[in-house]
Amino acid sequence: MLVSGSGSLLQALIDATGTPGFPVTLAAVGADRPAIRGLARAEGAGLPTFTVRLGDHPDREAWDTALTEAVDAHRPDLVVSAGFMKILGPRFLGRFEGRVLNTHPALLPAFPGAHAVADALRYGVKVTGSTVHLVDGGVDTGPIVGQEAVPVLPGDTEDSLHERIKTVERRLLVDTVARLAREGCTVTGREVNIP
Ligand code: GRF
Repeated sequence: MLVSGSGSLLQALIDATGTPGFPVTLAAVGADRPAIRGLARAEGAGLPTFTVRLGDHPDREAWDTALTEAVDAHRPDLVVSAGFMKILGPRFLGRFEGRVLNTHPALLPAFPGAHAVADALRYGVKVTGSTVHLVDGGVDTGPIVGQEAVPVLPGDTEDSLHERIKTVERRLLVDTVARLAREGCTVTGREVNIP
């Protein structure tokens, strides 16, 4: 799992893996910056952690290679990016092709990018939501695996709306990862089928 911030989505998966019959184990948690709450949560759960900072590498290509190797060392079946605020590089996506999942706090294809909640609020939508999708080479453009709507309420701030979305995101991510682990999926063009 890859994180950059508070890691509340990571915590939801950590909690789920502690329930009987949950079909997934977490191999490791990686970050692009040190000393974040997400890493502390992972350490608290006894999970291996690693940090691969862009600034420690001469360029993006070298960072991409280092991140790919750091993740590959844990031999994951699936890589989950949950609040990881860097665009994954071509080497990484080539190595884990079709096996990288991202969660985004909006109903894609509306409001891609790093400011999805603020953008939705500014636009004035009455409904936004959460999207879990496979990662391709674009920014939040990969095939959609799961989506759930969340209402925008009068007086919402970016924080209040984001927190309502994250409540849904946590459940959607946990459910989607479990379904993928149990059933697998086939991807035909943009269509993702979980049997
Ligand atoms: C989530 O809304 C995720 O979709 C977005 O960043 C947030 C991560 O939250 N990209 P947390 O760090 O897991 O609390």
